[in-house]
Amino acid sequence: MSHPSPVRTICCIGAGYVGGPTMAVIADRCPEIQVTVVDLNAERIAAWNDPDLSRLPVYEPGLDAVVGRCRGRNLHFSTAVEPAIAAADLVFLSVNTPTKTKGVGAGQASDLRWIEASARQVAACSQGHTIVVEKSTLPVRTAETVQAILTAAQGEGAPGDGSTPGKSFSVLSNPEFLAEGTAIADLENPDRVLIGGEDPVAIEALADIYAHWVAPEQILRTNLWSSELSKLTANAFLAQRISSINSIAAFCEATGADVQEVARAIGTDSRIGPKFLKAGPGFGGSCFQKDILNLVYLCGHYGLHEVAAYWQSVVDLNSWQQHRIARLVVRRLFGTVTGKRLAVLGFAFKADTNDTREAPAIRICRDLLEEGAQLAIYDPKVCAAQIARDLGQAELPAEASERQALSGEGSWRAASSAFEAGAAADAALILTEWGEFAQLDWQALAAGMRQPAWVFDARAVADAAAVRAAGLQLWRVGEG
Ligand code: NAD
Ligand code: UGA
Repeated sequence: MSHPSPVRTICCIGAGYVGGPTMAVIADRCPEIQVTVVDLNAERIAAWNDPDLSRLPVYEPGLDAVVGRCRGRNLHFSTAVEPAIAAADLVFLSVNTPTKTKGVGAGQASDLRWIEASARQVAACSQGHTIVVEKSTLPVRTAETVQAILTAAQGEGAPGDGSTPGKSFSVLSNPEFLAEGTAIADLENPDRVLIGGEDPVAIEALADIYAHWVAPEQILRTNLWSSELSKLTANAFLAQRISSINSIAAFCEATGADVQEVARAIGTDSRIGPKFLKAGPGFGGSCFQKDILNLVYLCGHYGLHEVAAYWQSVVDLNSWQQHRIARLVVRRLFGTVTGKRLAVLGFAFKADTNDTREAPAIRICRDLLEEGAQLAIYDPKVCAAQIARDLGQAELPAEASERQALSGEGSWRAASSAFEAGAAADAALILTEWGEFAQLDWQALAAGMRQPAWVFDARAVADAAAVRAAGLQLWRVGEG
């Protein structure tokens, strides 16, 4: 095997939650490599280039420091896609792959239009030999499609005398396992890096990049299909644990057991392990549901209907958990929330991120709005415009809410603190586990609420003794 020629220039197509942080860490750890992250979304690129590092488009602890160190040195954000591809030895495809909303496979299959478009851009603009790396999460065997698109362009661009080689490509799969909120720590200290491919020279060229900071035994090499499928499988297993513990949480509530104690008891079994056993309002985020639905679709495609049904049940249990929480809030508030003010504490799908994609708060808030509730929503990182988009309903100004309450129509408005949200509320719902909710002054909050008032702690983060000492009634997920 010949030694790979070192990668000197990288282009990453897609400046999202994965492309931005991943490339920032690569640039930080590999100062000799020039990294350009490109995106069609000019607003997003402008935000990545904002001199004020607190305004980057992705909120991740530690990201501002990494970007601050590298931006302008060997990390660049640009809308100029073509020159960045042309200059690159290696191109990461890190575009979105959401669930299809129409056509064949709607509601299950991944929409591959962005991955196809970016592969076509690489085919058109690349020069010489280019390593093309699938960073996006993709259905197993997508590399075949990427390869077919690139092969059609192979050889193009060779000059007449044949002295300079024309275009050629090696396709690799290198899925990303970072979790939002801990992206920088996950990237700097990954459990493993996975590289799938057929071309050993290309595999080693990519492995050499990670070897700048990842131990050799943590860089795994597989064939293309195993790599693509490992990513879907990892997310399916993680999500399955959450649905499993949430199913047991409901059972605990019915029987007087406590899910936190059960989780501790089973988590000490080294075969089970303690992580990912936190009961809550169901998993959110852009990927778990989409990736499992994709797995379900692929299993169906290959005629594995029982396997498809098994994974579908993980998603179904998750939706059930979210509706269950909305229903129990209504039941405890004397069977009606119409016209009642409810404080919603946390809207992001998990703490330490501003991402609201598939956040459990969306479904729970929608159910409560449907019941006629007046929601006051506070999240330390999510803006009102994002909440309005997610709920599909404009924010109602405070002065109009009295009238709206009488009409029985649900409405919402943003609050700038937990205390503002709790003013005159019948209940506070904790839907995201932000650290500040563990330290709330419940005496002060209770003083502003309408009694008898409830706290519904869907994340089990509030100080239960302090909540009760403040005279508030408490429902905590998984507590019987
Ligand atoms: P995202 O929507 O935040 O970012 C994708 C970006 O790609 C967008 O800004 C979009 O404008 C851009 N884009 C799309 N087509 C383009 C094109 N042809 N040229 C230039 N730019 C283009 O998505 P994300 O959260 O970063 O996820 C990207 C992929 O990574 C998905 O497949 C996802 O499943 C996977 N993934 C995500 C996470 C996560 O935590 N969000 C973690 C692991 C893997
Ligand atoms: C998840 C995976 O953890 C990453 O490895 C993967 O790369 C990523 O999906 C992806 O492919 O997008 P992420 O969705 O960012 O990462 O965040 P997680 O920490 O996995 O949380 C997902 C959801 O599960 C959140 O709503 C979280 O609150 C919930 N969760 C997590 C629980 O309810 N209980 C737990 O014990 C853990």
